[in-house]
Amino acid sequence: MPTKKKEKKEEQKEKVVAKKPAEKKVVGEVPKKKINPISLPRGMRDILPEDQLVWDRVRSACKTLSDAYGFRRIDTPIVEDTNLFVRGVGKHTDIVEKEMYSLETEGGEKLTLRPEGTASVMRAYISNGMFNQPQPAKLWYMGPMFRHERPQSGRYRQFQTFGCEVIGEKDPVLDAQIILLSWLILKELGIKGIVRINSIGTPESRSAYKQVLVQYFRSHRSKLSDNDKRRLLRNPLRILDSKDEGAIELKVDAPQIVDWLDDTSKAHFMRVLEYLDEVGVPYQLDPYLVRGLDYYSDTVYELFDEEEADERSQSALGGGGRYDGLSELLGGREETGAVGFGLGMDRIVSRLKSMAGDEPVKEEEAPVFIAQLGEAGRKRSLAVFEELRLAGIRASEAFGKESIKAQMEVANRRGAKWAVIIGQKEVLDGTAILRDMDSGSQEIIDATKIVRELEKKL
Ligand code: HAM
Repeated sequence: MPTKKKEKKEEQKEKVVAKKPAEKKVVGEVPKKKINPISLPRGMRDILPEDQLVWDRVRSACKTLSDAYGFRRIDTPIVEDTNLFVRGVGKHTDIVEKEMYSLETEGGEKLTLRPEGTASVMRAYISNGMFNQPQPAKLWYMGPMFRHERPQSGRYRQFQTFGCEVIGEKDPVLDAQIILLSWLILKELGIKGIVRINSIGTPESRSAYKQVLVQYFRSHRSKLSDNDKRRLLRNPLRILDSKDEGAIELKVDAPQIVDWLDDTSKAHFMRVLEYLDEVGVPYQLDPYLVRGLDYYSDTVYELFDEEEADERSQSALGGGGRYDGLSELLGGREETGAVGFGLGMDRIVSRLKSMAGDEPVKEEEAPVFIAQLGEAGRKRSLAVFEELRLAGIRASEAFGKESIKAQMEVANRRGAKWAVIIGQKEVLDGTAILRDMDSGSQEIIDATKIVRELEKKL
């Protein structure tokens, strides 16, 4: 015995010695130096598996309601010709002036990651000749938008929008239906939405209004921030949206656009409000709501959560309006009536999460766990997993683990009710062990009857 022990020790020594040269630097080996992890670009984020259930709820409410209202899905590319947004969204908007992710290809193409969806949908409507189909075209889309904004709570540089557009008709009933649909989506998700609404009239009435607005702000120029002074020249309506003190103070006595609306715009707006009253959508008139995209005409609105107390810090969950001039701006037919909305899905998801106390929503656990032992058991288990899936029985596994103990720990952690255990012996005998995870009792069953036995028990 002592000699055997000695031999074993020698053997171990040898192993240690034999390992040593391997620890020396080997050609091609990655040097063990600290590598800094690559971080996400600012304003971007991951949406992790534990949040996907809430996201699915939002996606599903958007899709189900829009389908019910006769909208059909459209997917447009994430990258478009930069000019689409310069012309469509407007040269002097914040989006085009400072927020676009633009690039130039080697071939000299100027492209931009879409900052919003409406211009793309109108481009698709025109380029696919949808005006030749029965009108209006009712389209919905969902996907990422990109804006290089200053990141802050509820504002990301890549965010998800769900949008609906009705293109090809001008009746105010469509404005109301669009507003109703966006409000209903929030309602379906348990959020009490409130609409803030305004009419910004036609480009003609707007330009007359702009003049008096510029006059008004000019006479109080010293109170405006540098940013708002710049807006005075380029986009005076945006001063009404400014977050700067001076502009907020001046806004109270500023002229209101309703006084410059022509009769057609006034009548259109009144009818939109009447329809909203009819269907019980709560709204507040907001004479200074102008929105940050230039394509709007007549109705503009934003959707907020009624429950959120501090109105100033609130960010809109969605917004939209009418954009009858966009088709022509993009080279399509003149006077193509169009109205739509976009919902900020990231903001809706974070609202739902905070309503649920920020607890992660738990996915429903699979009731069955498949455990395996040895190579033959593992092979058979792969096939059994597929049998269960085809029979509609949800199962989980830990095929990468070898010991039964470790696998049972996983099964317990996942809250499995039943474990199917298959080892070498069971494969040879054509059986499987069925274990009740609560009581620990086990029975041996015929391998061909696993599905049937589980169906009886579940
Ligand atoms: P928007 O108001 O610019 O409108 O965006 C729609 C919604 O997207 C906003 O109400 C907000 O909830 C969300 N959102 C905007 N920017 C961000 C951001 N940086 N991070 C997170 N969420 C954001 C449009 O885009 C129009 N295309 C809507 C429309 C459709 N008008 C007519 N048809």
